[in-house]
Amino acid sequence: MTSTRSASGNVLRSEYQKSVAAYWNNEKDPVNLLLGDVDGLYHHHYGIGEVDPSVLEGPQETENERIIAEMHRLETAQSEVLLDHLGAVSPGDRLLDAGCGRGGTSIMAGERFGCQVDGVSISEQQVEFANRQAALRGLSDRVRYHFRNMLDTGFETGGYRGIWNNESTMYVDLRELFAEHARQLEFGGRYVTITGCYNDVTGGRSKAVSQIDQHYTCNIHRRSEYFQAMTENNLVPISVVDLTALTIPYWELRARSSVATGIEGPFLTAYREGSFHYLLIAADRV
Ligand SMILES: C[S@@+](CC[C@H](N)C(=O)[O-])C[C@H]1O[C@@H](n2cnc3c(N)ncnc32)[C@H](O)[C@@H]1O
Repeated sequence: MTSTRSASGNVLRSEYQKSVAAYWNNEKDPVNLLLGDVDGLYHHHYGIGEVDPSVLEGPQETENERIIAEMHRLETAQSEVLLDHLGAVSPGDRLLDAGCGRGGTSIMAGERFGCQVDGVSISEQQVEFANRQAALRGLSDRVRYHFRNMLDTGFETGGYRGIWNNESTMYVDLRELFAEHARQLEFGGRYVTITGCYNDVTGGRSKAVSQIDQHYTCNIHRRSEYFQAMTENNLVPISVVDLTALTIPYWELRARSSVATGIEGPFLTAYREGSFHYLLIAADRV
């Protein structure tokens, strides 16, 4: 069942959250829709892994189709790596996808673990879209999407074995987010995030990182802030994986595709100059 309100009142609590919700409600970018059409897993995140060189060979007329399928494969590979870090999950467990987008990673989790998955987004359009996809796959009884704020979901305390944020932490205050995650995770439960963060070593936000923030109306956090906010909220990191080198081939491919949006340059600059990382962090709730 899709809810329209969190237990504690309005879902959209600030003008900023309303603007983020409006962005995602209106978003119909081919880079997300055409890729999702490949197999019905819709992602709003980036890919990792080596590009298959054969994609750039073969007939010119079908090159674009091959590039789209390849980008989608790399985005799905990113979700697989995130799910690999959730640890042991049984069919009786519950998982939470915080900032779920059109829901691709939740569907993959539901199919992989056979358990219940809740996805939350502040975009009602995304929630409706994702629930339709779950229904098409016959997963509606286990994979459900809700119009709720991940900072205050109204879900049960200690009810989740695992929670993840797949590229959605840059829209919120990390301390508020991790406090809510710590409340919802059972003792020993696992939290995983894949995120872009800027580099404390190179200093403040670089120009390229600021361009990314502006493009997506988000607020990229510095790397150290993740660990500070986790420590303050009883989340103890167990794995940190720098995925930066693994995501660059995806961005190079995307830059030459028909679905490029113009943000490819700043991403490639930020990664190559070292001012920005693509990081996976997994932590246990103690
Ligand atoms: C870049 S998309 C990532 C979507 C998805 N995790 C994926 O990997 O495809 C960011 C998502 O965060 C969601 N979001 C942003 N702020 C939120 C909040 N306060 N509560 C719930 N969702 C939020 C947006 O609605 C959007 O679905």
